[in-house]
This record gives sequence, C-alpha cells and structure tokens, in this order.
Amino acid sequence: MAISTTMNVPLVDLGAQYATIAHEIDGALRRVLDKGDFVLGAAVRDFEAAFANYCDVPHAVGVGSGTDALFLAMRALDLGPGDEVIVPAMTFVATAEAVMYCGGRPVFVDARPDDLLIDAAAVEAAITPRTRGILPVHLYGMPADMDSLCAIARRHGLWVVEDAAQAHGATLHGRRVGAFGTMSCFSFYPGKNLGAYGDGGLVATTDAELARRLRLLRDHGSRAKYDHSVVGYCSRLDTLQAAVLRVKLAHLDDWNAARAVAAARYDSLIGDRLARIGMAHRHQSVHHIYAVRIPDGRRDRVRDQLVAAGVGVGVHYPIPVHRQEAFVEAGYGDVSMPVAEQAGRELLSLPLYPEITEDQQRYVVDELFDALTRA
Ligand SMILES: Cc1ncc(COP(=O)(O)O)c(C=O)c1O
Repeated sequence: MAISTTMNVPLVDLGAQYATIAHEIDGALRRVLDKGDFVLGAAVRDFEAAFANYCDVPHAVGVGSGTDALFLAMRALDLGPGDEVIVPAMTFVATAEAVMYCGGRPVFVDARPDDLLIDAAAVEAAITPRTRGILPVHLYGMPADMDSLCAIARRHGLWVVEDAAQAHGATLHGRRVGAFGTMSCFSFYPGKNLGAYGDGGLVATTDAELARRLRLLRDHGSRAKYDHSVVGYCSRLDTLQAAVLRVKLAHLDDWNAARAVAAARYDSLIGDRLARIGMAHRHQSVHHIYAVRIPDGRRDRVRDQLVAAGVGVGVHYPIPVHRQEAFVEAGYGDVSMPVAEQAGRELLSLPLYPEITEDQQRYVVDELFDALTRA
C-alpha cells in the first residue's frame, strides 16, 4: 500500500493554540462562571487595564467587535453626514463600513506596491474641505507610516484613528501601535494575533474625554443604572471573552516572536523565487498574514492545487472594498485603485500561526512550487 505524504496544514490552527494554554483558559472561564458577572464584569476591567498598559496608553474601552470599535470611535469624534474619512483601499470591508454607519463618506486611497500600506502622499492629495480624519490600517501586522500620516493630520487639523485590528503588539520606533492615533481600534476576532473565542474589540486612547464618551456609547449611553445621557448602543466586550483575552495577552509577545521565526523560515525557504509583501518591515511586523504574489493570472489555479494538497491558503482580499457590489451601489463604481486591484488578483496568504512546525512549512513551500510548475 502506498504511503500518502499529504499533510494537513490549516491557514490558522486555533485548536493547537488552545492545547498549549487549556488549563489557564479553563480556570479563567470557571472563575467568571462562578462569579456570574457576565456583562461588564471584573474580567473586562482587568483586561482593559492590562491592554492599556501593554499599548502604553491611559485608556482602553472594550467593545463588541473590531467593527464596533471603529464605529464607536468615530461616533465619539462626532463624525456625521457630509464628513469624509480617508481609508485605505487595501483593507477588510469593516474599515469603510464603520465610516458609513456614522453617515460619513469613505474616500479610498491606494496602497504602496511593495508593502500594500496606505500611501501617505496620496492621502494628502485626497484631502478636501470636508475631510475630518485619516483611518490607516496596520495591514498584515505591519505598522502604517504613522510619522507621515500624523504630520499630515497635524498640518490639516485632522484626527487619526488607527485600525490596528491586524497588528496587536507591532512596534514603530519602539512604541506599540495603538499609541499613535487620537484613538486606536483593535479586533479580537478569533484568528487575530490576539483572538477571543468569539467576537470582541477595543478602543485605546490617550484622551480621557473620548474614553468617557466611548464608555457611554458602548452601554446605551448609561452613566448610571437606568440613567441615560445620550442615545448609545449595546456593544460591550463580553466578560467571558475578556477573561480569555487576559490569559492570552500574557502570551502575545511569545506568539508574535514565534510568528516572526516562521515568517523568516518562509523567507529563506522561498528565497528570491517569488515576490512577497512587506519585506522591508520584517523587523516591525507581527506577521498576521504572510502573503506572496502569484502573477500572470495563475493565482487561483495555484490556490486550488494547494487546497487539494491539504494546505489552507487564503486571499486577503480578492475584491477590494471599492469594487464590492455594496460599494459600487453606493457610488464607488468609477473609483480606480490599481495597486489594490492587482493585489486582489495576485495575492496568496500562506498558513502562519505560532505553532506551525518546520515540517509543515517545508511541505507548504514544496507544494507551492509544485503547484507553480503546473499552474
Ligand atoms: C483591518 C480590519 N479592520 C476591522 C476588522 C473588523 O474586526 P471584527 O471582525 O472584530 O469586527 C478586521 C477584522 O476582521 C480587520 O482585519
């Protein structure tokens, strides 16, 4: 009987991570269950304090998701109809959606070809009298060009809200992302570098008044029980999720270091045979996603062959936000973002997570090059 050499390498492996911390997680969940403070319980306050400390900012407000973090941050800044916010074309749809929830208009700006981060020169060119702020994304774990973006914002009297959903722990000049903008928004979607076991999000800020407004907005505008000073929302970080996140935060730096080792291993296994995204940021990135370019219209065939070989690849993102049907219908049909559109055709994300083994990575790269010769 032939021995199959097929391996199963998922895009992310949350079960492998849970296995390494099961006793800690189970204990933390048990403590919440025993206490029963399921909504805005003690674990939420503990995690907020720990995450604020981690990012070196004074305030952190846990909310229902990364999308809500963005939405509530801009609500706290009073974004409203007629206001424009500059957002990257290379991002997950939520970045732009959050602007629209407030009645604002996202103005897309294209990416730099080498790292796919928002192009600061193009940001400045997109500013109009209606622009209120800039919403850069630390894509794939790489810090956006905060020096240029914050300088542009200061020159034009704009706010900067960081979308740090993909970059927990990434640093720029020795400071963690989350400490640069007026506010910073994190997602704890399960597959993120710091992921909950369900939805969760957080806004970090240096501004006490904005933090106060966020706390009102996330909880029905309630300043005391049944005393509502503004019309708010129901978007609180769940206590059970906060307990999970508090455990996982203590491991985040080690996990990010393991991701860096895995990314460096892919770099050396792939060599100069394929273009990769963001090679200049290897020392700052927390490697949320490891993306290669497969040119010449072969990406989908390579992806299908890898999936057939048991390799869980992804595409982040196949259709840029401005090309999504919802946005075409919202009036973005004429918008052209060539770098993001080319990325949508060429990018392929390889499996990357802290627990991935060298054998798994060798298998992924062998299968990748095998697929390339056949595609
Ligand atoms: C860049 C970016 N922004 C926002 C979000 C939205 O976060 P969530 O899924 O927690 O709402 C995500 C994650 O999915 C993201 O990757």
